[in-house]
Order: sequence, then structure tokens, then C-alpha cells
Amino acid sequence: MSVQTQAKLRHEPIKERIASRILNTKQELLAGGIGDEIRDLLEQRGVLVFPKIDFTDEEQIAFTKTLGTFAPEHQGDPEEVSPITTDPKIAGHTANYLKGSLYWHIDGTSSEVPILGSLLSCRKPAPKGTGNTGFSNTYAAYDALPQEEKDRIDGLTVRHGPWATLFYYDPEPSAAMLKQMQAIGDRELPLVWTHRSGRKSLVIGNTAHTVLGMDVMESSLLLNELRDWATREEFTYSHEWSVGDLVMWDNTGTMHRAEDYDHNSGRLMVRTKLEGEEPFA
Ligand code: OGA
Ligand code: MN
Repeated sequence: MSVQTQAKLRHEPIKERIASRILNTKQELLAGGIGDEIRDLLEQRGVLVFPKIDFTDEEQIAFTKTLGTFAPEHQGDPEEVSPITTDPKIAGHTANYLKGSLYWHIDGTSSEVPILGSLLSCRKPAPKGTGNTGFSNTYAAYDALPQEEKDRIDGLTVRHGPWATLFYYDPEPSAAMLKQMQAIGDRELPLVWTHRSGRKSLVIGNTAHTVLGMDVMESSLLLNELRDWATREEFTYSHEWSVGDLVMWDNTGTMHRAEDYDHNSGRLMVRTKLEGEEPFA
């Protein structure tokens, strides 16, 4: 009979209101016994950083599965990592679409149940000082709002659509392009998400375009005010990538964006995702 000693989760905070660093070894993470603890910490901290963990594709997939249900990039896809790059030589036609990821966003606002989280690892960083990934803790940002602002926004509904992201990187899209993006559909989501846990987070970002019941000016002002607020220094963390780093985020309580970099620099990340478990509510 062999007695397995169970590794404990070891971690330290990076900033007060967002992000922790995980100190366990690759072997401890892949053993699987600390998946639940990692999930709990992810919900509390928004972002978890695994410095130079150097997972292979297979290890990243195996680790993802210790945390929840592996979400393929598209329905029916095999379980594999997805390359994330805006380099046209690697990404082909998806390069343009990924330019939307340079602006604050939540992944999967077109889905009934958005993905729970993503795990992004760095194969090739952009030149130093560029191509960080920024994260904003939208639970912490909501919590810190003055009570009268919470009262003003609780109960508001916002329309989201991927087409709205187009204007961030292409101010004069052709009607044909716009129509194609609009065909993906629009969705009405609560501005303040009350999670099953009772915690509340903001649902904003580049897919948010119209607050119901407001005129265009009032609506865009509110969405921009909330983004300014949520992306203040105290609610954000910017990760400077080294090869082999893995960063995972709670997509239900954070926004993220790639910070600008040379799109021909060959910056290459690979991503796995966790299936969502809770609809926007
Ligand atoms: C994503 C994303 C940002 C980055 O993978 O969903 O937005 O820094 N990535 O590549
Ligand atoms: Mn994204």
C-alpha cells in the first residue's frame, strides 16, 4: 500500500485587489489534487500567474481538465490548444478579428453561458515592454463603487454584440463587413451580474454598445465611465510575459486585453478554456 502525500496549494498575492502567483511545481499541478483549491482562489483573485511553468500542449490540456470541463474553441473541435496571435503569417483570417482583443473585453458575451476562464501560455513574447496582457477585476471594481452609483446601475440592461468591437480597430468598416459581424447576433445582458455566490461584478467591455432606456450619449458616457473606473490602477494587473508563463483568469469576474505590440513580431500564445457553469444573471 502506498501513501500519497497530497501537495498543498502555495501562493502569494501580486496586488492587493487582483492577481496571485502560484508557487507549486508542474508535477504538483498535474497531480490534480489541488484543482478545487485553485478554482476557489481564482474566484477570489481574478487572475492566477504560474511563472515559467513551461507546460507542453498536452500538459496544459491535462491541467485545464483538473479545473473543470475543457471547452473546445468551436463546438465539435478536438481537445487541443488554440494559437492566439495577430501575426497574419500565423493566424490567417483570424488575425483581424483578434485585433478586438487589444481593447478591454470579456470573452464569450455572445453565449448564454460565457466561458468560466481561460489559460493562456506564452510561446513567444513580443519585444520587451510591449504585448503584456492587462486584467481588470470587475468584482473589486463593482464593490468599490459608491452606494449611489450602485443604486443607479443595479438593474440596468446592456446590449452586447461582437460587431461593436469592429469600430475599435476599423473606424470605417464596409457595410458588408458590419453585416457579417452583426449576423453573429446581439444579446441583452445585465450591467451588474449577481452571481450564484451572491457576489456582483460589472459586465462591460468592447462588446457593450447600448444601455437600454438611455439615449446614445448617456449610454456611451455611462459605459465609458464604468470602464475608466474598472481599469484604474488599483483594480488592474498587467502581466509582462516570459516564455513558458501561464496565466489564467476568471472570465466571469474580470476583463482583459492584449497591450499593443508589433503584429509582425511573432508574439505567440496558446490558449485553453474552461466551459462556463453559470449564465449571466
Ligand atoms: C484571449 C485574449 C489577450 C492576449 O486569448 O482571449 O484576449 O494578450 N488574449 O493575447
Ligand atoms: Mn479575450
